[in-house]
Amino acid sequence: MSYSHSHLLGIEPLSPADITTILDLAEQYVRLNRAPMKHGEALAGLTQINMFFENSTRTQASFELAGKRLGADVMNMAMQASSLKKGETLIDTALTLNAMHPDLLVVRHPQSGAVDLLAQKVKCAVLNAGDGRHEHPTQALLDALTIRYAKGRLHRLNIAICGDIAHSRVARSNILLLHKMENRIRLVGPPTLMPAGIGDFGVEVYEDMKEGLRDVDVVMMLRLQKERMDGGFIPSEREYYFRYGLDAEKLAFAKADAIVMHPGPMNRGVEIDGEIADDINRSVIQDQVEMGVAVRMAAMDLLARNLRVRGTEAMA
Ligand code: NCD
Repeated sequence: MSYSHSHLLGIEPLSPADITTILDLAEQYVRLNRAPMKHGEALAGLTQINMFFENSTRTQASFELAGKRLGADVMNMAMQASSLKKGETLIDTALTLNAMHPDLLVVRHPQSGAVDLLAQKVKCAVLNAGDGRHEHPTQALLDALTIRYAKGRLHRLNIAICGDIAHSRVARSNILLLHKMENRIRLVGPPTLMPAGIGDFGVEVYEDMKEGLRDVDVVMMLRLQKERMDGGFIPSEREYYFRYGLDAEKLAFAKADAIVMHPGPMNRGVEIDGEIADDINRSVIQDQVEMGVAVRMAAMDLLARNLRVRGTEAMA
């Protein structure tokens, strides 16, 4: 089982084999996480620093738990309170970090590309926990693992990604991953929430949600990212819910065994009806959270294996 990259910055550079390697190892960690004794040794002796320049509940907690379950020393840097407020540049932050000798750095940043830049300046393995509208690779990997569990495969599925695609790094990483694994992807939403150049993504675009959901295997809902909107992208939340909120009537157009996904945090009654989100026969939203811990354990384990190989080579 090997993964040839030094970082996990996005889905874009990964091959289908890389993706399968991460998911296969994550499956072993799903089993470990369900056992009464949840401790592994894969990151023993290593230091993991989490740097979140943007708010996060689920992703940060998931990375922290993943590191602790595998024996790393995990530190969360409170970036809101840090010297960044005092105008320290990202590069200075990187130099400070290098002096602390971390092995794994988990970074979330509001600017697209900031995590790649940091990765060029630090000496450790970097994992992108979301950069601007660019990528959120571990989210796409945990979504893929959830789909593989629920559907028994990760290819030749009809998958609808619905809502605020334009502002969503989750959508971008998912489109890249699901495309590499040879699925048919539909994007559903108002034209104002579709990214420019959508024709190059190899997807079908639907403005009418019922048409877009017809006979799909997977319905992936996205949060309306109000914090990234600087104008009137939607007429009103009520109107948006009427046309694009997932309710029983619209879901009836999907296959009878279609699953419903959402990366969280949800706006109930805006993009999704609360009853659908809580319906354990349709919604896999809690499974996504469970898969998230396992996927992050797998990604950090694979990167740590590469660190060890490089460390041994350097000493020889
Ligand atoms: C997403 C994010 O931050 O990109 N959340 C997450 O990581 N689970 C999606 C969102 O904020 O809507």
